[in-house]
Amino acid sequence: MITFIDNATVITLADVDPNRSVLDYLREDAGKTGTKEGCASGDCGACTAVTATVDEGALAYQAINTCITPVGHLHGRQLISVEDLAENGVLHPVQQAMVKAHASQCGFCTPGFVMSLFALWKGDEAPSRHTVIDALGGNLCRCTGYRPIIDAAVAACRARGEDSFSRGEARTVAVLEQIASDPRDVHLAGEGRQYLAPRNLDELLSILQAQPEARLVAGATDLQLEITQQLRQLDLLVYTGHVAELKIMEEADGCLHIGAAVTYAEAQPVLCHHFPDLEELLARLGSRQIRNQGTLGGNVGTASPIGDIPPFLLATGAHLQLRSSSGSRELPIAEFFLDYRRTALRPGECIERILVPLPEQEELLRAYKISKRLDDDISALCGVFNLCIRDGTVTRARVAFGGMAAIPARAPACERSLRGQPWTLETAIAAGGALAQDFQPIDDLRASAAYRLEAAAGLLQRLFYDTVDSDIGPVRVTRYA
Ligand SMILES: Cc1cc2nc3c(=O)[nH]c(=O)nc-3n(C[C@H](O)[C@H](O)[C@H](O)COP(=O)(O)OP(=O)(O)OC[C@H]3O[C@@H](n4cnc5c(N)ncnc54)[C@H](O)[C@@H]3O)c2cc1C
Ligand code: FES
Ligand code: FES
Repeated sequence: MITFIDNATVITLADVDPNRSVLDYLREDAGKTGTKEGCASGDCGACTAVTATVDEGALAYQAINTCITPVGHLHGRQLISVEDLAENGVLHPVQQAMVKAHASQCGFCTPGFVMSLFALWKGDEAPSRHTVIDALGGNLCRCTGYRPIIDAAVAACRARGEDSFSRGEARTVAVLEQIASDPRDVHLAGEGRQYLAPRNLDELLSILQAQPEARLVAGATDLQLEITQQLRQLDLLVYTGHVAELKIMEEADGCLHIGAAVTYAEAQPVLCHHFPDLEELLARLGSRQIRNQGTLGGNVGTASPIGDIPPFLLATGAHLQLRSSSGSRELPIAEFFLDYRRTALRPGECIERILVPLPEQEELLRAYKISKRLDDDISALCGVFNLCIRDGTVTRARVAFGGMAAIPARAPACERSLRGQPWTLETAIAAGGALAQDFQPIDDLRASAAYRLEAAAGLLQRLFYDTVDSDIGPVRVTRYA
């Protein structure tokens, strides 16, 4: 049984197909068809709704892509869709701002934009234009054009006040806390399939031991696409999001310990505090909707050659703590990826934590993502460089790439050509040239092999200019508008 609040109504579901999405629930079960389906793959934002959870006694609102969120993930949350915003026939301030700015034409994208804007309106105190663009980066509009939508967002956030959700907050918090304290199992069973949401690691591991064929699901931003794009049916889903041990984030023994179920949105402030250069990479990883749901453990677990986190983990020398009911083992991240989407994970085992060594004082970490679109696009390639430079000489170099091979990988020839060399443009060019010994990339829809090699080599020159005082200065594109 799962329990959540749909706007103001407490809903309990038990015999529902666990492969159903929140979008299916909204449109087909609740009859709320304002939320649209565009791509069913998390890309367009037409299906955006908002969920609220309790954070330190108050409600925290997050936009999500309902098309790729399993309905079971609603347990313990308040679900808010576009129908819920107007009060007694009066539009919500974010809707009024959209009307006033002429920010809608055909209207198909509008409910999604309104909900992303609503989450922003409920969150940031006074978002800058940059923050507004970031918040709307996961929503596509094909006819209005973005300027009026951004103008509406800026205007709405300038004039914020109460709404029905703030007036009902105390009651919502009380109900959500009651749901959280209910000791009954969280599960769904329907159409011969099951969804289980254990609350601690022992419970999760015993499920995996008994049924090693179970599929772990965290944010579902990869996994649910198997259902919506490949039309597969997944018989047993085990949700990691309620397992307290997998939500840990702490510093110990010179490492940052990040639980496998920590989302990007949760990890971002801590990661950027220690590795400030990750800010751009994380801001360009998916969209806000994706970062609210997607986890670091899922990014590693899915073992995509173009995932953005593995190159960072390889360049920092991170380890994974893997756990099964027979014990725990630690594995250097480089030994986890065996072949295309094949990992060293054994049956019954899960990723418990990612251990990222805290940076040393002289360490210089730079991360570059190359994709066709600035926001919400998968990398054609992603390069992360971790250098120690002493008295102008490279004393240590760790270089890792995604998008250059069947697995995310270090670049040993490139690293060798950097080590012990003066940090000059000539060294950077030579190290870029050495990448041809490390990688034979493929041609695909994101980039040709030749482009990948040339762009990767170019990143070494960019790294050089980013790390020395020069007329060229840091070469970064972070925003178009
Ligand atoms: C629109 C869109 C944009 C995206 N953009 C990017 C991008 O820019 N960069 C990028 O890197 N990725 C991107 N992704 C991919 C995806 O969001 C990430 O890979 C994300 O980190 C997956 O995490 P998740 O929690 O959603 O994983 P899930 O989908 O829940 O799981 C993914 C896989 O990991 C396994 N898994 C999950 N947790 C564990 C665990 N604890 N132990 C072992 N295995 C586990 C699951 O079984 C599954 O096989 C995008 C996806 C979408 C839909
Ligand atoms: S329908 Fe396009 S993101 Fe969900
Ligand atoms: S108004 Fe038509 S797609 Fe945005």
